[in-house]
Amino acid sequence: MASDIITHTRFFGSNPVKEGEHYLGQWTLRFIIATLSITPLRQLTGWNWLAKHRRTLGLFAFGYLMLHWLTYALLDVQLDWGELVKDLAKRPYIMVGMAALLCMIPLALTSTRNSIRRLGGRRWNRLHTLIYPIAILGVIHYWMAVKKDITDPLIYAIVVATLLGWRVVRWRSRHGTPSTPVSA
Ligand code: HEM
Repeated sequence: MASDIITHTRFFGSNPVKEGEHYLGQWTLRFIIATLSITPLRQLTGWNWLAKHRRTLGLFAFGYLMLHWLTYALLDVQLDWGELVKDLAKRPYIMVGMAALLCMIPLALTSTRNSIRRLGGRRWNRLHTLIYPIAILGVIHYWMAVKKDITDPLIYAIVVATLLGWRVVRWRSRHGTPSTPVSA
C-alpha cells in the first residue's frame, strides 16, 4: 500500500486499460461540456473574451477523444480490426461512441482560421452545431457503458440538457419556434 502511494501504481487500479479508458472518456465529455458552456457564459456575463477559448477547448475534447479511442483500439482490442467490427455489432455503446467520433472529425478538420474564411461564418457555424449531437451521443454512450451506478452519467446528462435547453429558450425568445440551427 505504502509503495502504491509512493509510486502511484494504484492510480490506474488493477485494470489499467479500463481505468485509462474511463479517465480519458470522462475528460472528453468534460471538455465537450466546457466548449458548450462558453456561449451561455458569454451571454450571462458579457465576457466576450471567452469566445477565443472555445476552439482550444473543442480541440482538447478532440484530443482526449482520440486518446480514448486509441486506448481502446491499441490496448483493448489490440488493432484486431475483426474484433473491432464485431464489437461494433455486439456492444451498441461502441457504435454510439463511433458515431460521436465521426461527427467530431469534420469539426477538428475545420477548426483553423483558414477554414472559417473558406467556408464563411454562416456555413462554419452551421457545421459546428454538430457539437450538439456529439454531446448527446457522448452522454448516451457513457450511460450505456456504465454497468451499475448511473449517477455520474445522469449528472452529465442534466448538465448537457441544461446547456442545450438554454440555447432553445434563447432561440425561442428571439425568433419564436426554433426551425433553424442556433450558433454553437
Ligand atoms: C464523444 C465521444 C465519446 C465520449 C464522450 C466517451 C466517453 C466515455 C466515458 C465517460 C466512459 C467511461 C464509462 C465509465 O466510467 O464506466 C467511456 C468508456 C468507454 N468508451 Fe467512450 N466515449 C466516446 C467515444 C468512444 C469511442 C469512439 C470508443 C471506441 C470505439 C469508445 C470506447 C469506450 C470503451 C471501450 C469504454 C469502456 C467501457 C467499459 O467499462 O467496458 N468511446 N467512454
